Amino acid sequence: MARINDNFLKLKAGYLFPEIARRVNAFNEAHPEAAVRLIRCGIGDVTEPLPEACREAMHAAVDELGHADTFKGYGPEQGYAFLREAIVENQYAGLGISADEVFVSDGSKCDTGNILDIFGRDNVIAITDPVYPVYVDTNVMAGNTGEADEKGTYAGLVYLPCTAENDFVPAIPERQVDLVYLCYPNNPTGATATREQLADWVAYARANRAIILYDAAYEAFIQDPAIPRSIFEIEGAHECAMEFRSFSKNGGFTGTRCAYTVIPKTLKGYAADGSERALHPLWSRRHSTKFNGASYPVQKGAAAVFSEEGKKQVAALIDGYMGNAALLREACARVGLPVFGGRNAPYVWVGCPEGLDSWGMFDKMLNEANVVITPGAGFGAAGEGYFRISAFNTREKVEEVCRRILETLG
Ligand code: MLT
Repeated sequence: MARINDNFLKLKAGYLFPEIARRVNAFNEAHPEAAVRLIRCGIGDVTEPLPEACREAMHAAVDELGHADTFKGYGPEQGYAFLREAIVENQYAGLGISADEVFVSDGSKCDTGNILDIFGRDNVIAITDPVYPVYVDTNVMAGNTGEADEKGTYAGLVYLPCTAENDFVPAIPERQVDLVYLCYPNNPTGATATREQLADWVAYARANRAIILYDAAYEAFIQDPAIPRSIFEIEGAHECAMEFRSFSKNGGFTGTRCAYTVIPKTLKGYAADGSERALHPLWSRRHSTKFNGASYPVQKGAAAVFSEEGKKQVAALIDGYMGNAALLREACARVGLPVFGGRNAPYVWVGCPEGLDSWGMFDKMLNEANVVITPGAGFGAAGEGYFRISAFNTREKVEEVCRRILETLG
């Protein structure tokens, strides 16, 4: 008798974005005339083409694969040296990170989920609420939680509420936790954490021998120079944190897939016998066993993000999306809704109008404005009463979304 992983039976409904897609498809089938007007501001998927510098580098790499003398088969599982070195030079200069502490992968979603392979099953795990659902669902799958209640809150996880009162940056827990997921700039709230707030988290983690899983996938959208871009800007973080970053949202690699995780060699966890063990060799071993590396053309394209031309082209993409965020913020504020985020992140987090919960708001926007947003409750119980608008879209569509917000809610 083949047994399944019963933990999967604890998962609530579908994963948020497939669930939204299911509802949108049902709407499209029922209202084909409205379907052609539909504008998607739900999932944070980029809309602008890959930067030219990246495309050129990818084409050249494909040509290399077409010649016997430059052909490449399996690459290094941890990533090609040219990309790992470019990442350190361009993203971690002066932060005490070396190229062999960077692990190239096919996505931060995969990395933040797969990282659980190297941790024990008896850790106390803290997540923010609202939260990127991948952190929760992968812990459920791994058996690190109990059952969920009717709000989708899982027994066994420590939820750190992020509210307007705490500027969506959670208070340090009063109890011991072993792993804590932090994401700044935040998905879904668009909030950022200050240097002082991150320093408090690093101090907590060190005092409790805890590890911070720091998701910085939206780092490129930070506009304010005072906001830290990496957890490794904080003294002591190399002993208590790892960082996840991605080419998805800056270089537009959501379809081509490329990301990386930084694990300092000084980062340690504890074996069952209490001995201290470095995490770097564990993740390296995991990568070598379960992964064969991101493809060569994609890694070449990713490295081109750091070329002179690539930097200019990526900056233009970010400017475009952040301009969209400013327009969306303004439209929501004009109809009197409380607006957060969207200043250093591509997500605008908005309070629902009186009398509507977040799925109610999702339905209203879908049915009346023909705009897809993401209901805050899909990110956790504390997301109830909010919705998220993604600024990843063309300017023309965002301007149309703003018109429809004024028309529907004004
Ligand atoms: C989101 O919309 O939250 C993101 O696109 C999800 C992701 O990057 O996986």
